[in-house]
Amino acid sequence: MNVLMFKDHEAMSRYAAKLFIDQLQTDPQSVLGLATGSTPIELYQALIRANKSGEITFKDVTTFNLDEYLGVAADHPESYARFMREHLFDAIDIDQANTHIPSGLAIDPVKEGADYDEKIRQAGGIDLQVLGLGGNAHVGFNEPAESLSNQTHATQLTQDTREANARFFGSIEEVPTEAITMGMGSIMRAKKIILMASGQAKAKAIQQTVEGPITTQAPSSLLQLHPDVTVLIDEAAGSNLKETSYEIL
Ligand code: GLP
Repeated sequence: MNVLMFKDHEAMSRYAAKLFIDQLQTDPQSVLGLATGSTPIELYQALIRANKSGEITFKDVTTFNLDEYLGVAADHPESYARFMREHLFDAIDIDQANTHIPSGLAIDPVKEGADYDEKIRQAGGIDLQVLGLGGNAHVGFNEPAESLSNQTHATQLTQDTREANARFFGSIEEVPTEAITMGMGSIMRAKKIILMASGQAKAKAIQQTVEGPITTQAPSSLLQLHPDVTVLIDEAAGSNLKETSYEIL
């Protein structure tokens, strides 16, 4: 894993944007894997600016999002479909038909998951995947568990995750209990991965991701086995790392 430490979230987001801009300039037909949550918002803002200034275009880009809440329609204010429209898709020149998010209303989530992975395969696989990180080391909604799934699948959310996401809903009771998420295999098949994390609340999960044993109890630790992962963190997220010789960028 290539770990890069930044002085703050803004510097980290600028660097992530540069990696995406390089990717899109090298291959304007790239397939991007996208994430929700607060972490990538500044990255998306930088990509919107780069699109508006003509530095990059999304007209031939295809995207696949990691996950969606189950039981939540695409127009629900807290759906990840709406999040993506608001924070990225509505502000760039992408063809909305080329944006993909698992359906929160899937009647048969097993079929929805299999179809989703097949669509990723047919698009040629994900060239660059951005990931946020749960405080419990989840990626997408692959929660710590006895075993993990390869495929896109339906999953129960842990209490920790529902509490962490309650800030977006009126109360914890309104946070869905289930989601549909790319599996660890779907994520690990991406050619390149950028994992971003900032703040003290992610420090333990970052230590598990980068230095911990590979375990299903810390799903992000599986990324240690991927050949091309760049971990972007700020100082607070890196504060539990035992290796302390990171230059601050
Ligand atoms: C959610 C998402 C994850 C995201 C995580 C962290 O649970 N399913 O994909 O990485 O939250 O969110 P944040 O970036 O807001 O800390």
